[in-house]
Amino acid sequence: MSESKYIIAPSILSANFATLGEEVVNVLNAGADWIHFDVMDNHYVPNLTIGPMVCKSLRDFGVKDFIDVHLMIDPVDELAQSFIKAGADLISFHPEASKHVHRSIHAIKDQDCKAGLVFNPASSLDILENVIEDLDLVLIMSVNPGFGGQSFIHSSLDKIEKVRKMIDETGKDIRLEVDGGINNDTINLAAKAGADTFVAGSAIFNTDNYEQTISTLRAQIT
Ligand code: DX5
Ligand code: ZN
Repeated sequence: MSESKYIIAPSILSANFATLGEEVVNVLNAGADWIHFDVMDNHYVPNLTIGPMVCKSLRDFGVKDFIDVHLMIDPVDELAQSFIKAGADLISFHPEASKHVHRSIHAIKDQDCKAGLVFNPASSLDILENVIEDLDLVLIMSVNPGFGGQSFIHSSLDKIEKVRKMIDETGKDIRLEVDGGINNDTINLAAKAGADTFVAGSAIFNTDNYEQTISTLRAQIT
């Protein structure tokens, strides 16, 4: 995926759902690169959010930018296909939620959609060795999934460093995304550890001036 070096992906989990289309347009006009779309099922995680119909509604509303779908659901495969039909550009899922991770990755890629794998703070990276070459993105959770507005878990930095080495060894164009507790104090820690794609929910949507917030976040990366 050749794109700009650093990508900011606002998580719409913290947006105003009553005016979601406008929120998404505003944050993209304010300089966001991707839209991060958090899908929760009250089963894999203790929260319930939005499904493929909302993704399609954003496309129908005219949103043409990259939609980065983060599935926090179990099982994975059927809804992943629904999100592809609804216009997702990339779908990432948690390996614990799929019985056959390799099959789930390729079911996404076979439909010309990009695929990512997500690792929770307590999840081992072992499985990554077997599938890293097949992925377009690795997502390291720096909070436990389920809610916005949590504090950054600093032990995720070691994990980001390890994944950075693994990605570099493949020589492939695989993005390294970090999700949870990203703000002006943490974004550069994650960047220094090797992340190149940054999800931020509350740090962006809980402010009044998205443009200023995004440019300040970007300016922290040195
Ligand atoms: C948590 C979600 C995150 C969340 C991040 O399960 O995957 O994308 O919205 O929110 P902040 O940036 O507020 O930690
Ligand atoms: Zn997320």
